[in-house]
Amino acid sequence: MRVPIIAGNWKMNKTVSEAIDLVRELRRLVIDVEKVEIVVCPPFVALSSVAEALSGTKIKVGAQNVYFEEKGAYTGEVSAAMLAGLGEYVIIGHSERRQYFGETDESVNQKVKAALAHGLKPIVCVGENLKQYEANETGAVVSLQIKSGLVGLTVEQLKSIVIAYEPIWAIGTGKAATGAGANSVVSINIRGPLSELFGESIAQATRVQYGGSVTPGNIAEFMAMPEIDGALVGGASLKANDFAEIIKATAKAK
Ligand code: 13P
Repeated sequence: MRVPIIAGNWKMNKTVSEAIDLVRELRRLVIDVEKVEIVVCPPFVALSSVAEALSGTKIKVGAQNVYFEEKGAYTGEVSAAMLAGLGEYVIIGHSERRQYFGETDESVNQKVKAALAHGLKPIVCVGENLKQYEANETGAVVSLQIKSGLVGLTVEQLKSIVIAYEPIWAIGTGKAATGAGANSVVSINIRGPLSELFGESIAQATRVQYGGSVTPGNIAEFMAMPEIDGALVGGASLKANDFAEIIKATAKAK
């Protein structure tokens, strides 16, 4: 029922010409893949070139951030209206944005609403840090992020949302969560609050990705989990071969 979705978050990597090279290679490698939605999220400056290089393919484009205001004197920011023609998805509330750029559940909520108002599909990131994980606070942290980040949305709007569960201690560390651990957080602390807020049927229909040190070597473990519908991939999405392997393994597993 839920179409698996693999997205590559390139973070602050790749010049425009490197970005074009990467997606040209990727498009060749995944040409035969069916049943998996594929998204690449390059930096803002490469969005338009990447979209052009991918036109006519099934690979979709997303941004890594968006500002919630419509327009105006917000130096350095990019609005949802500006992104609307360039990509279909936008990552919102990534832990690096929360950690280094002061994003909060409240700004995440504003950004989600702005994105939806312009027809963009948000990939909303949630996840606990190491201290919270060690203090057994994962459940409370993640449910609160879900509830506050998505407050005020309609069931109809929720249909355009993808959630990414990314434990911060697993990001870029080479220490991924276990499939079973992530599956349980998704089931209890993500679908649980979604069901409370929006009802069981949309909670079951919403796609939830796992993110954090996903590689060709461990993707099968995550995709074997019934509650996990794909992955948000950082480092491994910068190499066409690795990203293609992850996509193919997902097609095989789901
Ligand atoms: P890594 O796959 O590099 O751990 O990054 C995960 C991530 O933050 C994706 O958004």
